[in-house]
Amino acid sequence: MRSSPFPLDAAWPTTLADLARRRGWPSFEDPAALGARVREISSVYNEPRTPDFTRARSMLAARLGFSLPRDVAKGACALRELVATGYLLGEPPGRTRFSVLDVGAGLGAMTWGLVHELSRISREAGAATFSVEASLADTDPEAVALALDIARQVSLPGVRLEARAIRVDAARSLPPRAVLGDFDLVLVGQVLSELDVDADCGSRAARHVTLLADLLARVRPGGALVVVEPALRDRTRHLHAVRDALAAQGHPPFAPCLHAGACPILQTPDGWCHEDRAVDLPTWLVPVARAAGLRWQGLTFSYLVLTPEGASMASRFGDATGLLRVVSQRLATKGKEELIACGALPDTPHAVRLRRLDRARSDPNRAWDELQRGDCFTIDAEGAGARREIGRATGVRVCAPVDEHARDRYLEGP
Ligand SMILES: C[S@@+](CC[C@H](N)C(=O)[O-])C[C@H]1O[C@@H](n2cnc3c(N)ncnc32)[C@H](O)[C@@H]1O
Repeated sequence: MRSSPFPLDAAWPTTLADLARRRGWPSFEDPAALGARVREISSVYNEPRTPDFTRARSMLAARLGFSLPRDVAKGACALRELVATGYLLGEPPGRTRFSVLDVGAGLGAMTWGLVHELSRISREAGAATFSVEASLADTDPEAVALALDIARQVSLPGVRLEARAIRVDAARSLPPRAVLGDFDLVLVGQVLSELDVDADCGSRAARHVTLLADLLARVRPGGALVVVEPALRDRTRHLHAVRDALAAQGHPPFAPCLHAGACPILQTPDGWCHEDRAVDLPTWLVPVARAAGLRWQGLTFSYLVLTPEGASMASRFGDATGLLRVVSQRLATKGKEELIACGALPDTPHAVRLRRLDRARSDPNRAWDELQRGDCFTIDAEGAGARREIGRATGVRVCAPVDEHARDRYLEGP
């Protein structure tokens, strides 16, 4: 599939440029100047040892002009399964009000990811108007003040956003529920990476398990906790470890995993499982990425979605047995194609390498031709015996494609 730019609403570029101009900062209208700032923040974040997060936080011009519009897409894409299974809008569908706690909100990219999705749903459904009450929780008053300014200026069709700032230090114990309240959605975007960076791996994971379990306890029934992290290896493996410990404590993932067993990639010394979506930067940001020496094609991140009921995306498809998710790129070699899939398999490890010989291409397995990383699919009974081999008689069905433009294929069920 060809990638396409993330369809950020046309309100964004002019508003961001206006906000930057008023502060004397460069905007996308001056790609060379903004690109230099972006290069600087990205070199801080990509520091191989512990990045200087405090320094990165102070680089608000780059965060406003580039990181925010880039990361809204991550927030939106992390909601994919919640939207695709109908969970987000409730059962029966009808939820139109969302109270949101955005932890480590910064400029609010995760909240805007939700607002973007709701605006799209409203446009496609042609009717519903949604309302989002967002509590933007951060330790950095300057960032949150800017976030509130953005919330006052950007308005997306079909969604009324009311934002307020609250001071919460996620590295310490959270205010009690009676004070902080309950929420439909708790969003934790790219902030775990910045917490407890001096702790050793084990105790850091234990602290983050405690934090996420505490946040999950503040999610109302029917709601969700959504955690997004950068796709970097160490940060994603940390998220895998936290996910495993949460699952062992009775909090199975809703997404992206289709099972609550131990994450197979953690059995490897240095593998990690992250998203790589065919979503490019909006075209007006491309010159800035170029000037900063960054790529603009593709969107990478890792994520974890949990619900208070312990619902799983797989269970929304009825009998989840045999449901698989593509977790690799397609690997084509002479005469065959392979991919790695992970899911709820009854009699094999959760991750399997599947292959189809070119000469086994057939009508029943035609969907194999289109499978791409992130797609959820099943293989039918004939395939179940061999598991690893997609033969001529093996039916392949896509249940939830990752491609944003193929929503008509959602919810067919296995
Ligand atoms: C990389 S930014 C992410 C912003 C936004 N959530 C996103 O996904 O784009 C990390 C944010 O976490 C905030 N942060 C760092 N440590 C924090 C803490 N202990 N408690 C609350 N927020 C924190 C920072 O101030 C910063 O705004």
